[in-house]
Amino acid sequence: AAPAPLAGKHALVTAGPTHEPIDPVRYIANRSSGRQGFAIAGALARLGAKVTLVTGPVSLDTPRGVTRIDVQTAREMEAAVNEALPADVAILVAAVADWRAESSPRKIKKGETGGPPELQLVENPDILAGLGGSDRRPGLLIGFAAETDKVVGHARAKLDRKGCDWIVANDVSGDVMGGTENSIHLITAAGVESWDQMPKSEVARKLAERIAETLA
Ligand code: C5P
Repeated sequence: AAPAPLAGKHALVTAGPTHEPIDPVRYIANRSSGRQGFAIAGALARLGAKVTLVTGPVSLDTPRGVTRIDVQTAREMEAAVNEALPADVAILVAAVADWRAESSPRKIKKGETGGPPELQLVENPDILAGLGGSDRRPGLLIGFAAETDKVVGHARAKLDRKGCDWIVANDVSGDVMGGTENSIHLITAAGVESWDQMPKSEVARKLAERIAETLA
C-alpha cells in the first residue's frame, strides 16, 4: 500500500472553548462545541499524522489515534500548545476567551457587593499570534475566524495580523454554532476559495487533504 500522506508529521490542533473562572462556580466562555476541531484532528490522524489535540471543556469522544490534552483556561491552553511543539502544522480551531476575570477564590455571594459585582477583565494571550511570531513557528500555521459579517475581509486582516499561512473563515451568521454543517472560505496568500456548505466531517477531510498536499 502507498505510505500514509502525513506519516512522520506532527499536527497540533486546538479545539473547544476555554473557561475563565470568575469564582469557583462561575466562568466566562465563548460558544463552541469543539466538533470542527475534533473532526480535523481525526482526519489528520487518518492520513497518518501524529496528532496532539489540546482542547477546552467539551463533551466529545477523542478521535481514534489522537493524543488529547484537556485544559480549562486560555493560559493553560497556551502552555499545553508550547509544550507540544515542535509541530509541522498547527491548526488553531479553539474559541479562546479574549478576556479572563481576576477570579475570586471564594464564591461571590449575591448582594454582598450591594449590586452586581464589577468584573475586572484582563486580556488573554493570543495563542495563534504568539505562534505566528515564534521562532518555533510550525511550517504551516492555520487559524480559524468565526465571523458574522464581512467574512472574507475580516479574515484576510486576521491572516496578516496573526502571522499565519491560512485562515479558515466560517460564516456563523446562520446555524453553524453547535451544528453539524459548516460553510467556510479558505483564505491563503494565493486568494480565497469559497466551499459549499458541507458536514464538518467533510470540511475536516478536505482540509486534511489540502494540508497533506502542502506538506508533501
Ligand atoms: O481574533 P479571533 O479570536 O477572531 O481569532 C481567531 C483565531 O485565533 C482562531 O484560530 C483562534 O483559535 C485563535 N485565537 C487564539 N488565541 C486567542 C484568540 C484567538 O489562538 N486568545
